[in-house]
Amino acid sequence: MSKTNDIACNVNVNHGSGGYNGEKLISPAASRNKDPILQVLKRFIICDIDQIEDESPLFVEIASGTGQHVSHFAPHFPGVKFQPSDVDKNVFGSLSFYATNCPTKNILQPIMIDIQNKLSHYGFEENSIDYMYNANMIHISPYECTIGLFENAGHYLKPEALMITYGPYSKDGVITPQSNISFDASLRERNPLWGIRDINDLIKLGDENNLSLIDTIEMPANNMTLIWKKD
Ligand SMILES: C[S@@+](CC[C@H](N)C(=O)[O-])C[C@H]1O[C@@H](n2cnc3c(N)ncnc32)[C@H](O)[C@@H]1O
Repeated sequence: MSKTNDIACNVNVNHGSGGYNGEKLISPAASRNKDPILQVLKRFIICDIDQIEDESPLFVEIASGTGQHVSHFAPHFPGVKFQPSDVDKNVFGSLSFYATNCPTKNILQPIMIDIQNKLSHYGFEENSIDYMYNANMIHISPYECTIGLFENAGHYLKPEALMITYGPYSKDGVITPQSNISFDASLRERNPLWGIRDINDLIKLGDENNLSLIDTIEMPANNMTLIWKKD
């Protein structure tokens, strides 16, 4: 396993790929982790378009950042509708670029979502979302955002639908290895409200919101993908 951390907030602008409003952003961490995450998603998301009965399943990404993740995933799930979102409107040009240039045309234009608000605020109905996905926000935001993520998943996912979260986590209060301990310290130095969260705390939050942790997958660079299922 690589010793480096996935510092997902660092982004580069790929000048020349579009105008100022539609420039594509590239995060080196997202470039590295998008394919390992895709391989996990293939185990949990319906890939076969013939298996989709009625409307296209809706996959809502919270805190999309550059948009590279949905851009990489969407062509592999052509029957699924991908909705990117972020609280930061500065990334919308990039999200829009990736949506417009998606060869399978199944990425919607971005919407502003602050996950601390109820999703009804943005027009979602309860029990209406098939998949929620969130990468690298839980440790790079105040804990209220994690609470909002779980509360919204509990209310707005369909029964038995999945939420997928990706990032570094501690287990039983212990952060490993040393590189993640240093990463946690650097996050808390940047913002005392940030930091790596413990899986046990997330399980409790899940219990309070009808979400069960059904799988934990070790990922490169000391990250994990957690699969949550709504009761
Ligand atoms: C480290 S970046 C991760 C981006 C992307 N998911 C990835 O893995 O490359 C964290 C993202 O969380 C977003 N974010 C922070 N607070 C948020 C909130 N309250 N609601 C929604 N998004 C938020 C930031 O704007 C930023 O785009």
